[in-house]
Amino acid sequence: MEKLKYFQEDWNEYSKVINTNFLYHTEIKEKFKLTIENYLKNCEESIIIVDFGCGDCSQIIPNLYNNRIKKFVGIDSTIAALNSAEEILKSANLKLDYELKLAKLEDCDQLFPEGSIDIIYLCYSLHHLSKYDKEEFLRSSHKKLKNNGVLFISDGILPENRNQNDWINLFESKMYEKSFSQKEIKNMIDHCKNDDNHETLSFYKKICKNLKFKKFNILFRSDLTIIFTLER
Ligand SMILES: C[S@@+](CC[C@H](N)C(=O)[O-])C[C@H]1O[C@@H](n2cnc3c(N)ncnc32)[C@H](O)[C@@H]1O
Repeated sequence: MEKLKYFQEDWNEYSKVINTNFLYHTEIKEKFKLTIENYLKNCEESIIIVDFGCGDCSQIIPNLYNNRIKKFVGIDSTIAALNSAEEILKSANLKLDYELKLAKLEDCDQLFPEGSIDIIYLCYSLHHLSKYDKEEFLRSSHKKLKNNGVLFISDGILPENRNQNDWINLFESKMYEKSFSQKEIKNMIDHCKNDDNHETLSFYKKICKNLKFKKFNILFRSDLTIIFTLER
């Protein structure tokens, strides 16, 4: 199966996942709002936010109506997602500068100067990377963030001592409970089997410690997902 085919061809099905709050996008928006507000309390200047794996940007836009944000950069490797993002951002009438880039999370090191980003936002994109590439991405993020900058991550999480198949089985049973159609479930589960690699909390905590991030804050947890921040 072609990599990330789900996002090229089944974006409407993914929108249903978002709109039913199946993956806690309501909580993500609330927690991200608070993260921005807390960051701004200790910062005099206007800030730059970068969204890696931005998709169509529909979920981050409500948090961009803040006159202390001077620039937003959305990065994604799926052309269909970026085309939708362009449309949605245009009609959002934001007062800030924005830029969309067709690129990969794995390109992080080449995309930005060191110490140039205030907040990096990742919403269900990091799990598309292998364990090795996640570590490399987090290492690059640490370099690209300003001092006190924040990495905001919302993603699936593996319970300790469980594997990716356990996660997918639970995810599938929850989709059945929420009455998604057979086709929607099959497309999503094929995508999960082909493209997803979740990690445990101890994996992220270890990297946080090794890279010398100052703080690791868990903001929300469900049995399948987590929202947390790392502070530089
Ligand atoms: C599950 S969607 C999330 C979209 C958006 N962040 C949201 O929450 O609505 C994952 C997005 O990450 C993008 N993506 C996956 N792997 C990527 C990579 N290695 N580099 C850049 N984008 C990637 C996909 O194209 C897709 O748009």
